[in-house]
Amino acid sequence: ESNRKTAWVGEEIYYFDSTDSTNTRAKRLAEDGSVHGTLVVADEQTGGRGRRGRAWESQKGVSIYMSLVLKPEIDPNNASMLTLITAMAVAGGIEKTTGLECKIKWPNDIVVHGKKVCGILTEMSTQMDYINYIVIGIGINVQNESFPEEIREVATSLRIESGKKQKRAAIIEAVWEEFEKYYDIYLKTEDMQGLVGEYDQKLANMNKQVRVLDPKDPYEGTARGITPKGELIVDTWEARKLVSSGEVSVRGL
Ligand code: ATP
Ligand code: BTN
Repeated sequence: ESNRKTAWVGEEIYYFDSTDSTNTRAKRLAEDGSVHGTLVVADEQTGGRGRRGRAWESQKGVSIYMSLVLKPEIDPNNASMLTLITAMAVAGGIEKTTGLECKIKWPNDIVVHGKKVCGILTEMSTQMDYINYIVIGIGINVQNESFPEEIREVATSLRIESGKKQKRAAIIEAVWEEFEKYYDIYLKTEDMQGLVGEYDQKLANMNKQVRVLDPKDPYEGTARGITPKGELIVDTWEARKLVSSGEVSVRGL
């Protein structure tokens, strides 16, 4: 801990050989008063979670499972950008340590050669217009040599894509260094254009056809990047639409 390279991420670190979900752990710690910057890392999850209650494959010893507690003084309405800067931080951290090119599938998947190496799960607790805490969970597939049948088509690992063993510790460190850099920019600038431009450069969906699975009104269009609020811009044949991450799924065609 003393040779930590980050300024405030990992202010307190909790390490578990096995836990249900690092997000669940981090939420409990946040509720019990843990500080901004508290980091939970596990070697295995027995109940790793994706979005909408889906399961996250969390085999022991091969991947990164970690969650960060944030207690930021920001407007909850501006918080969706945090997931997007986390995606940029993961992409940057992986590129720096492995040399693999990463793309981001809006809003929260990191893909290498078209397959998912990382998922991000952000959970927020608010009251009125005040944020109690935010937990950002990151799962990165590092040493996996194969995946269960159900996700074999969509999932991959850094080992598989690079053909080399990769060190989890180096990746964790690089990701949080990148995160602090983006977080600073996010807090200090009113103008999100710089971050938006950088995100757009990594956007796997850019200028591609997407299907927006809005339960009430599914539609197709062309992705054109994100807004300063983190919405996905989709041009349909009749109008420009803005998609918020909470409400829908986006699929490539
Ligand atoms: P949506 O766009 O609807 O949110 P998604 O693919 O982003 O879809 P999530 O709920 O965010 O879905 O992620 C969970 C999905 O990720 C699972 O349904 C499974 O297909 C896949 N998955 C589960 N574990 C892993 C893993 N370790 N690596 C890669 N993909 C995984
Ligand atoms: C996704 O659905 O793509 C997001 C997956 C997020 C997985 C990570 S692993 C660490 C943290 N703990 C969890 O239970 N989920 C996140």
